[in-house]
Amino acid sequence: MKKKNLTFGILAYPATHSLSPKMHNAGFKHTGIDAKYKAFNIKEEELENFIKNLNKKRIHGLNVSMPYKEKVIQYLDGIDAIAKKIGAVNCIYVRGGKYYGTNYDWKGIVNPLKKIMPLKGRKILLLGAGGAAKAACFGLKKEGAKVFILNRTFETAKKLAKKYGFKATETVEFMPEIIINCTSVGFENPEESPINPKVFKDAVIVLDIIYGHKTRLVKDARTSGVPYILDGYEVLLHQGYATFEKWTGKKAPKEIMRKVIGNR
Ligand code: ATR
Repeated sequence: MKKKNLTFGILAYPATHSLSPKMHNAGFKHTGIDAKYKAFNIKEEELENFIKNLNKKRIHGLNVSMPYKEKVIQYLDGIDAIAKKIGAVNCIYVRGGKYYGTNYDWKGIVNPLKKIMPLKGRKILLLGAGGAAKAACFGLKKEGAKVFILNRTFETAKKLAKKYGFKATETVEFMPEIIINCTSVGFENPEESPINPKVFKDAVIVLDIIYGHKTRLVKDARTSGVPYILDGYEVLLHQGYATFEKWTGKKAPKEIMRKVIGNR
């Protein structure tokens, strides 16, 4: 990346609370890259126009968050095989003046787990079957994990499980080593948990995609003595590292990016 004064950003609605500007701007500064990362708070009726004018606005890359990860695809020049398989885009990049979509959410989920233990052959309980769970499945399949999907709507779990050769389950019949919460339970009401804490008996890692280590799930994991408890900030950081490297071609300054998000 040689050009100067480039603009990157997060496309979402709302985008105002995102920590991505802080994380990437610190990364750019530390690496000596002349770029800024902004929050683009775009309403749905402005989405098409916004994407079609990225070139004019000299925007060189975007992260995509709720509610546009799927909706944005139709306006891009193309998406790569990973985004196609997951069915969602969380990163837009430029090649030859055209805008393409990819997805690093799966890295956000799988990479922090891999740092703790290899995932090959590991039995994992995945809670949820929505957007985040789809990205998790892509990554967990790549790592050769054995995934059991438990979701409020069993049919949705079945469909996702079938796509990746995993199992959909209505009850937990084993004690998983890794539990990943990809549901939104605990987001609005932190006292609600998607799972009975009994399943934490043999757990080594609990990853809750909700931010802040404040959910009932995280508290239960702590009480049960689970050694590694990760939350949504870890997911944000790991997808952020991958995005940074895709855009800049440089190694992400991980410790700097982690520091501004808050050492967790
Ligand atoms: P995201 O893109 O953040 O993953 P999503 O695609 O809306 O969001 O998925 C939300 C997930 O949380 C789904 O698995 C959803 O279950 P359903 O498939 O049954 O809708 C789950 N979820 C949301 N609210 C829930 C609740 N109150 N109890 C249990 N599961 C819930």
